[in-house]
Amino acid sequence: MLANTLPPIIAVVNQKGGVGKTTTAINLGAALAEIGHSILLVDLDPQANSTSGLGLDPVRARLNVYHTLIGEATIEQAAVLTSVPGMRIVPSHIDLAGAEIELATMSARETRLRKALASVPEGTGCIIIDCPPSLGLLTLNALSAATSMLIPTQCEYFALEGLRHLLYTHQLVRSRLNPNLGIAGIVMTQFDARTTLSWDVLREVRRSHPAHVLETLIPRNVRISEAPSHGKSVIQYDPSSRGAAAYRALAKELLER
Ligand SMILES: Nc1ncnc2c1ncn2[C@@H]1O[C@H](COP(=O)(O)OP(=O)(O)OP(=O)(O)O)[C@@H](O)[C@H]1O
Ligand SMILES: [Mg+2]
Repeated sequence: MLANTLPPIIAVVNQKGGVGKTTTAINLGAALAEIGHSILLVDLDPQANSTSGLGLDPVRARLNVYHTLIGEATIEQAAVLTSVPGMRIVPSHIDLAGAEIELATMSARETRLRKALASVPEGTGCIIIDCPPSLGLLTLNALSAATSMLIPTQCEYFALEGLRHLLYTHQLVRSRLNPNLGIAGIVMTQFDARTTLSWDVLREVRRSHPAHVLETLIPRNVRISEAPSHGKSVIQYDPSSRGAAAYRALAKELLER
């Protein structure tokens, strides 16, 4: 059965690499699933880190997100169970990199994911899209489909520059492709309370984007970085870790916003 009304669709996006998009997509999803929300994660990154980080082999999946973009499979057909109870994933595949070029010549090239997500299984509480580290066609597909952007931002010197560019893209997408695209928030990741750099960057980002920076800070935590090598979210891998607590707090804050 397919849903009549669409659930919230959160695109986890930042064109900068290694800022915690995949980590946030997996662990926010797991934290929401833990409190009873049925989560669908869409791995839209050819690196397929969400797919492998949840214990799935991207090469072995019969159908992946590419097939949903070209209309060869529905989301329902491509979605598979993960190691996280209550969370399913539409896997990615390295071939998606080539598909981005292929997509460029197709009709409605920016809105193919939106079309695919228009029919999701009934009961899906939230869809989370893990984006690649670029603002290419795949990310544009995510932003066209999403109801909001969640922006993981690493506490480092160049954070503000990247954010400016991303928020400009948000305006462009709103005016041309998706007037309903909101901002779920900027979440500061790999925060290290012992360094002045982390505090300095936090203060600057808060000053530049006061409405958007979330209260929850995701600490640098070794359990967070270990979890994907066990094919698990940090919520499953070490439920009492600081990392798990932080992602639970993030889920709670987003639900209350
Ligand atoms: N809070 C954290 N504490 C410790 N390590 C972290 C944390 N968040 C992310 N990492 C580690 O940092 C690296 C980059 O994180 P991640 O893969 O989530 O970033 P990304 O933005 O998805 O990267 P890409 O742009 O390549 O897709 C990974 O090795 C991950 O395990
Ligand atoms: Mg990633």
